[in-house]
Amino acid sequence: MFYRGRRLRLNSNIRSLVRETRLSLENLVYPIFLVEGTNVKKEISSLKNQYYLSIDRLDEEIEEITKLGIPAVILFGLPEFKDEKGSSAYDDNGIVQRGIKKIKEKYSDLVVISDVCLCQYISHGHCGVLKDGKVLNDESLKLIAKVALSHAKAGANIIAPSDMMDGRVSAIRRLLDENGYEYVSIMSYSVKYASSFYGPFRAVADSSPKSGDRKSYQMDPANSNEAMREANEDLQEGADIIMVKPAMAYQDIIYRLRQSVDSPIAAYNVSGEYMMIKSAASQGLINEKDIVLETLVGFKRSGADIIITYFAKDVANWLKER
Ligand code: PBG
Repeated sequence: MFYRGRRLRLNSNIRSLVRETRLSLENLVYPIFLVEGTNVKKEISSLKNQYYLSIDRLDEEIEEITKLGIPAVILFGLPEFKDEKGSSAYDDNGIVQRGIKKIKEKYSDLVVISDVCLCQYISHGHCGVLKDGKVLNDESLKLIAKVALSHAKAGANIIAPSDMMDGRVSAIRRLLDENGYEYVSIMSYSVKYASSFYGPFRAVADSSPKSGDRKSYQMDPANSNEAMREANEDLQEGADIIMVKPAMAYQDIIYRLRQSVDSPIAAYNVSGEYMMIKSAASQGLINEKDIVLETLVGFKRSGADIIITYFAKDVANWLKER
């Protein structure tokens, strides 16, 4: 006698009956890039099939997203104005703040997540305040918490700090609570690696540091124990959801976290991962739909609850076809 695994693979109904993990639209988050100007809907050259959008074109985009059944978006702002203090990031009339208000006017149920960082808004492109070539931690916290508060005021449901300064979750939580935003959640980019997979995003957001790199605040790709420490710290500081980023090369981290934390875990399927698939598919080397569904179900199988992906709309369409 031996185990006949093939018995449960005989046809598609049987396979479906015993399937352990399902990819579902309900867990997807779609990233949106907001720009100044009017009537802008321009394809991003480094991120095929993704667009720069001006606020006045946001309604039609959100209508499409909600019709597809995608429950959440994450907003990135590309301001026209950058300075040493990143002041356009915490301007109550800034690009993301206006975007959030615009969405909430008509689509109050859509979950609006706002990426909180300084790099897109600050002249030197680092995620915190720079002095004598060093990124200062505690000085940056004040600004980052200010950004979070202004997003909360605009109506964001979830604040997602991506700067990797130590202590930012507690700084944000405190300021939000003091101002009556105790029901605004925090999804922390807890485990964010200093990764080359962000290449296309940095071209989009013009947010590469002008000098040095991000290795003094983003994590070393070689580390796994450190990921546990970062995640546990963020949860203690008050994070509601923790994130692992990138996702593909870090599924062991997602899996390991799943064994030890009981908060929801988000996986960020980043720009480089997206473009590798897009490029190979456009050359006819792989089947885009099959590869994407296989990749994303892998994140779920590893233990991710939420998946942030530029493929969200495609997945919505593909899942409907099934
Ligand atoms: C900003 C930020 C980055 C990404 C999300 N927020 C870039 C970075 O840290 O350099 C990357 C997203 C992607 O690559 O898709 N701090």
